[in-house]
Amino acid sequence: MSDDLFAQQLAYYNARAREYDESVNQTGRFAGPSDPAVAAEWAQIQQRIAQLPQVDRTLELACGTGMWTQELLAVSKHITALDGAPEMLATNQAKLNSPLVRYQQADLFAWQPESQYDLVFFAFWISHVPAERMPAFLQQAAAAVKPAGRIFIADEPAGGKQLSGPVENGEEQTRTLHSGESYRIVKVYHPPSEIQQQLAALGFGDFELWTGDYFFYLSATKM
Ligand SMILES: C[S@@+](CC[C@H](N)C(=O)[O-])C[C@H]1O[C@@H](n2cnc3c(N)ncnc32)[C@H](O)[C@@H]1O
Repeated sequence: MSDDLFAQQLAYYNARAREYDESVNQTGRFAGPSDPAVAAEWAQIQQRIAQLPQVDRTLELACGTGMWTQELLAVSKHITALDGAPEMLATNQAKLNSPLVRYQQADLFAWQPESQYDLVFFAFWISHVPAERMPAFLQQAAAAVKPAGRIFIADEPAGGKQLSGPVENGEEQTRTLHSGESYRIVKVYHPPSEIQQQLAALGFGDFELWTGDYFFYLSATKM
């Protein structure tokens, strides 16, 4: 998989920052009755996050516009919110306006953790990591978790209803913005059980895997 595709993916999300919430919330050009089954599964992830024990330090990877950063604020004293797209970081910061969140710009395909955290969280990111990059990415994410700390992943599963549409050429999609500009990005519906196996090999246990029709979450503790 080429570096150009990763660069295009980042450029797509940077440009999409201003319309991201609108599309995810099914308003604007995506207007229409939002599916109550999708909303219920989304709420299930939010509820699980709200039940997490309070932690001192959380690292959120690919934080985007802050849809999950705002949920994490309720269970974290401090959050480092990392993303590769400056426009995503700026949107997140403007929306949350919280002194508890520190922002960091980094390319997750080249990132090395600088510190360890009680909770490492990423939502709707792992489906943009191709299978060949999963071992390296998960190793870095695992290294950022403190001993006895937790990793929490949410995304769209393999075998689900593919809310984000079908995948072309194995691991790619074409996405189009309001402006009509098109970008190629990575999209993989990873089987959650395979992510679990890779985390087990990295020393994680105490797994909690929930898989719905649209979304899944996987929580695990570093042993
Ligand atoms: C589908 S969005 C998810 C955002 C947020 N987690 C959410 O669920 O709303 C994917 C995010 O990954 C970020 N991203 C894309 N490529 C990246 C890269 N190479 N390094 C870091 N972040 C990247 C995008 O900027 C975007 O914020």
